[in-house]
Amino acid sequence: MKTLSLIAQKGGTGKTTLGIHLAVQALRDGRSVLLIDTDPQGSAGAWWQRRQAEVPALVQGQGTELPGMQAEARARGFDLVIVDTAPHSSEQSRACAECSDAVLIPTRPAILDLDAIGITTALVAGLSVPAEIVLNACPPPLLGHETRIVAEAREALGAYPVSVCPVAVSQRAAFSHALIDGHAVVEFEAHGKAAAEIDALWRAVKPRLGL
Ligand SMILES: Nc1ncnc2c1ncn2[C@@H]1O[C@H](COP(=O)(O)OP(=O)(O)O)[C@@H](O)[C@H]1O
Ligand SMILES: [Mg+2]
Repeated sequence: MKTLSLIAQKGGTGKTTLGIHLAVQALRDGRSVLLIDTDPQGSAGAWWQRRQAEVPALVQGQGTELPGMQAEARARGFDLVIVDTAPHSSEQSRACAECSDAVLIPTRPAILDLDAIGITTALVAGLSVPAEIVLNACPPPLLGHETRIVAEAREALGAYPVSVCPVAVSQRAAFSHALIDGHAVVEFEAHGKAAAEIDALWRAVKPRLGL
C-alpha cells in the first residue's frame, strides 16, 4: 500500500481539489483508493457526502493519527491512500508527510503563493520522503505552450530544494463545477482539458510512489 499526502501551509492552493482528483484518477487506473481527510474544515468529506458513487472510500481523522488509519487501510485491502491536509498546522502536515511514500505541494503561480512556499518546503526538507511542487490554477497554455506566468513561477521555484512537477494544472471552471455535486472533472467532462491534465498529473505522480 502506498500513501500520497498533499500538503501546503497556505490555504487555497489546491490540496483538496488535486487530492480528490488524483483519488478518482487512481480509481480509474484500477487502484483501490482510500481518501483520508485530515483537515478539520472537512472539504473532502463534504465532497464525499455529496457524491453518489461509493468509491473512493473516505475517512476523516487527525494527521497525527495517520499511522493507525494506514494500518486499518492496509487491513481493509486498499492499495493507495491519499491524504488531504489542513493549512497552517506544521505539526499535522509533518506527521502526514513523515508517513507518506510521496508528498505533493500544490501552489498557485502567483507571487504571494510563491513567497509562502518556503515554509512548506522547509518542512519536508529534513524528511526522507520524496516531495514535489505542483503548479495549480495556472493560466491555461497558449497554443500548447506554457504561459510566461507559469514559466516565471518555475524559475522562481528553482530557488527551493524541492523539484517542480513538469505537469501544471490550469485554472478551469470544470474543477469547481464538477465538485459541486460530488464529481471529478473526468466524470463531468470526460474528454475535457481539465481531465487530460489530471490524467497527466497522475501519470507523473505514479513513479514517485513506486507504482
Ligand atoms: N485548477 C483549478 N481550477 C479552478 N479552480 C480551482 C483549481 N484548484 C482549486 N480551485 C478552487 O480554489 C479554491 C481552493 O482550492 P482547494 O482545493 O480547496 O485548496 P486547499 O485545499 O489547498 O485549501 C476552491 O474553491 C477550488 O474549487
Ligand atoms: Mg483543503
